[in-house]
Amino acid sequence: MKTRWYKDAFFYQIYPRSFCDGNGDGIGDLRGIISKLDYIKDLGVNAVWLSPCYKSPNDDNGYDISDYRDIMDEFGTMEDFDELIAGLHARGIRLIMDLVVNHTSDEHWWFKESRSSKANPYRDYYYWRKGRGKNGKRPPNNWMSNFLGPAWKYEESTDEWYMHIFSYKQPDLNWNNPKVRQEVADICNFWFEKGVDGFRCDVITYISKKHGLPNGKIKLPLIGFEQYCLTENYHKFIKEVADKSWNRYDTTIVGEAMGITSANAPQYIDESVGELDCVFAFEHTNCDRYTQILPHKLSIKKLKSIFARWQALPQTCMPTLFFENHDQPRCVPRFVGYDCGEYRDKAAKMLPVALYMQRGVPFVFQGQELGMSDIPIGKEGEVWRDGKPVRAILKEEEVFKDILSVNAMKMFRKRAPFLMGIVKKVLKKVARDHARTPMQWSDAPNAGFCPKDVEPWMIVNPDYKIVNVAAEQNDKDSLLNYYRKLIDYRKNSECIKNGSFKEFYADSNKIYVYQRQDADTTIAVVCNFTKKETPFTLPQEWSNNNAECKLSNYDDARPLASGTLRPFEASVYEWHRH
Ligand code: GLC
Ligand code: CA
Repeated sequence: MKTRWYKDAFFYQIYPRSFCDGNGDGIGDLRGIISKLDYIKDLGVNAVWLSPCYKSPNDDNGYDISDYRDIMDEFGTMEDFDELIAGLHARGIRLIMDLVVNHTSDEHWWFKESRSSKANPYRDYYYWRKGRGKNGKRPPNNWMSNFLGPAWKYEESTDEWYMHIFSYKQPDLNWNNPKVRQEVADICNFWFEKGVDGFRCDVITYISKKHGLPNGKIKLPLIGFEQYCLTENYHKFIKEVADKSWNRYDTTIVGEAMGITSANAPQYIDESVGELDCVFAFEHTNCDRYTQILPHKLSIKKLKSIFARWQALPQTCMPTLFFENHDQPRCVPRFVGYDCGEYRDKAAKMLPVALYMQRGVPFVFQGQELGMSDIPIGKEGEVWRDGKPVRAILKEEEVFKDILSVNAMKMFRKRAPFLMGIVKKVLKKVARDHARTPMQWSDAPNAGFCPKDVEPWMIVNPDYKIVNVAAEQNDKDSLLNYYRKLIDYRKNSECIKNGSFKEFYADSNKIYVYQRQDADTTIAVVCNFTKKETPFTLPQEWSNNNAECKLSNYDDARPLASGTLRPFEASVYEWHRH
């Protein structure tokens, strides 16, 4: 049944709240997406990952679902959804949805039933436990929520606590209960019957908790992690859903996979396992952070070594290729620095070459193809006050909406106000808000995301006057048109999809040089990660090449030879044996 179509896929991720507002209330929606289907098609992608659009009270922007079989009021109706999927399929684009089943919303009717009494048949859909200590006034164990604070909430009415690894409005489902597993399979099948082509499974490595829910090691930032990530019943649970649902249709299943690394990946994603097809792992996005939180300077050498380890996996294990998503800051400031000045355009064009010429399933996040940037905190921009837009210096308090940023600021302001300066500095680098500013369609007010006299749900990045679709459509040298070229090149190259990978100069912190090769074709990828001219010596294997330059971020691409690479130069060359 499975054709493994992900091997030919190029994905575009849509975060619906911030993509396009179709009905003029300042919030992106399905009609907005429908109005942009030709834009997506013209980008050249052939698959879309849609972040959650189910009914939700939006404590975590849709990652808290109150009805898995209905559409969020703000996003539209099931008819809109049907039209969206038909519109995508008519354009040869597949759709995978977000499957958020580690937890539900506390407003899901299962949870309402569950919390109503200890005897309720739904009680065991979630984790309820007695508290510790005299009178049970301490949480059942020491686990911490990924959104800060304890991972348990006390309920007076039944004198028990329930588990929430994320916000208290996201209670964890108890996957030990076979009924829960059946519900998940049924939900997936409901959407497959509608024509959906797969799922991106939210925090899927958290679904099995260690028996007895033992205390976690005292290790910040996530106390309890080793007790709920990839523990004993993970395979059993996944296999059951795969058998009852995923493997009965021609699907692609991508797991969001904290805890999976290049070292253990084969036991989770090898084709022979029959569970997830591939995963989003976070080794490379954590390589500029201590303990996933505190930002530090990026080491290009380390980044390259992480890529190399994933590339070294057997052909039956497929990596994913991504820099951005709705939880990560924007890639240009992050991976090439805020200070590339006159070379920003070159740098923005170098990054996708470094990443997407590798083997794997590529994902581009909305706005990445335009070079959208992080929110310029501390600089002037437009915020809304009393229903009107005003020019002001952008402040964290005014622009951050994400539950994690808001919780962090609240908690520190209350408990350790002297640390607020550091907290803000950290958020400025790592906040998830950076990815969630409205998509920039034009230089009209509100960037064409919503009508000009409407307050968008989140501020528009002030750089929209320059960085926007309309401007880039018309400029043949724009980043947008460069992404189109790159996607087109990749789509038509068997060698990029399946060829072997070999890296040169792995020790360099400046240049990134690798080769892709199959029986007939050799592809050479040469990138300069610095803003300085950097020496480059042609690898022995590449002498006597008959190379044609297929892609370059410089107009006057040079032949493939020893010499220097210009600032942020990135070029791809190809030659054939026959
Ligand atoms: C995933 C999502 C993130 C969400 C969390 C809880 O990490 O990508 O946005 O907050 O899961 O559902
Ligand atoms: Ca709307």
